[in-house]
Amino acid sequence: MQSTDKKADMSQPLILVVDDEAGVRQSLQLVFNKSYRVIEAPTADDAIQKVADEAPDVVLLDIMMPGTDGLAVLKQIKSLSADCQVIMLTGLNTARTAFAAKGTGAFDYVTKPFDVEELRLRVEHAMEKVQLSRELERLKEEVGRKYGVDHVIGKSKQIIDVFKAVSMVAAKKSTVLITGESGTGKELIARAIHYNSDRRSKPFVVVNCAALPDTLIESELFGYERGAFTNASQKKLGRFELAHSGTLFLDEIGELNLGTQAKFLRAIEQETFTRLGGTDEIKVDVRVIAASNRDLEQMAKAAEFRPDLFYRLNVVSLFLPPLRERREDIALLLDHFVRLKAQEHSIAVKNLSPEVVDFFTSYAWPGNIRELENLVERLTILTPHETILLRDLPLGMRSTDQTATLKEDVLNGSRPLSDAVDEFERELIVKALQRTGFNQTKAASLLGTSRRILKYRIEKLKINDPNDSEAEVKLST
Ligand SMILES: Nc1ncnc2c1ncn2[C@@H]1O[C@H](COP(=O)(O)OP(=O)(O)OP(=O)(O)O)[C@@H](O)[C@H]1O
Ligand SMILES: [Mg+2]
Repeated sequence: MQSTDKKADMSQPLILVVDDEAGVRQSLQLVFNKSYRVIEAPTADDAIQKVADEAPDVVLLDIMMPGTDGLAVLKQIKSLSADCQVIMLTGLNTARTAFAAKGTGAFDYVTKPFDVEELRLRVEHAMEKVQLSRELERLKEEVGRKYGVDHVIGKSKQIIDVFKAVSMVAAKKSTVLITGESGTGKELIARAIHYNSDRRSKPFVVVNCAALPDTLIESELFGYERGAFTNASQKKLGRFELAHSGTLFLDEIGELNLGTQAKFLRAIEQETFTRLGGTDEIKVDVRVIAASNRDLEQMAKAAEFRPDLFYRLNVVSLFLPPLRERREDIALLLDHFVRLKAQEHSIAVKNLSPEVVDFFTSYAWPGNIRELENLVERLTILTPHETILLRDLPLGMRSTDQTATLKEDVLNGSRPLSDAVDEFERELIVKALQRTGFNQTKAASLLGTSRRILKYRIEKLKINDPNDSEAEVKLST
């Protein structure tokens, strides 16, 4: 027999036995005290007190204690500790009540007299359920922390304004439109809004409109009934339905075709839709966040985007400024990613030389934070020494190394002077373009010339403008 003075092992799961009969409590003690800690309560009041004080994992609750309503006790226990599992103990004549109790939150019920093995199995099963739901809670919390607004890095006025807006709109259900260049953190902010809202434990469903061909986008959004078209051998739920009670994030919404835009607008306005090939109206409660790196207002004026949808989405709009317009954030982001990438790849944290930090601070970052993140990751993995120096940076990023060899070539007569002059001019023009976000008019005035002349020189020197094609200054990967 188990010695009674054995010290309680606090890491063991806890069972609370609630029964007015001392004999029942005692025999349950004997059955369970080898594998669990067991505490007892002879009355409902005592039971509620112990649930509040000790948060047991599993409660074995007698449904028919004199003078109490077992179902009411069950409800109180669940409201005190939602993940605690309650197994009702019942006589044969009250089995019906116990069965009803399952609907009000009891995990299971067992009829007296108990079969010890059966009871053990049910308790084990309940314990597993508790473990799972605690693990899930922990994961959700972790995800929430990860995407919480405090993990979005920045101290510039622009990004602080974004943080403020996020905390103001998160709790509301209003539609949010997030705009900004590629890589500025639109999806990150959308997640921050979701994880700071009371929908955080509900799904966050992403639809990337740019990644889906026109023919698939509607079935992806709204789902379809079996037989809706050839190959539809089974019903499929759309993302709208999957996002029920949570948040639907529509990335690159500017890519949605006009027909789908109309259906989408109706779905968000009425919160109902029908699956393709179906007739039933399906009601959903979904918060919509949309993002675009295109100017939707401009597109609406050009009849490429439905103005009514634009106004519906634009209820709250957040603009994420490009990194080159919030240079104060660069050093913070570098510091953040240098640590993060080292941790992700289990390697030592690299240092950045002061020249590298200077260079990065004045670099244009056409790919914004994504470019910075990828570059730091690459440098972290590929640099063999502890401190990253200017010469470790990809060649395409810095033209100075090339200029040094070019000067040598001119001086030893292997290339004409005009090549070096061209290179010098090209470097200045690229810098001016980078500083002005590739705005040729602004770049021309920075260089003290006219836009016409600048354009001519850009063409002559074959400088790529990222607005026309892939950026010349962008990293080759
Ligand atoms: N302020 C920030 N702090 C920390 N990480 C950031 C920040 N902004 C963006 N990031 C990171 O940069 C990467 C790009 O961000 P995200 O995917 O949200 O950009 P995006 O605007 O959706 O880009 P795209 O338009 O290309 O889809 C992600 O890995 C994200 O975690
Ligand atoms: Mg994105």
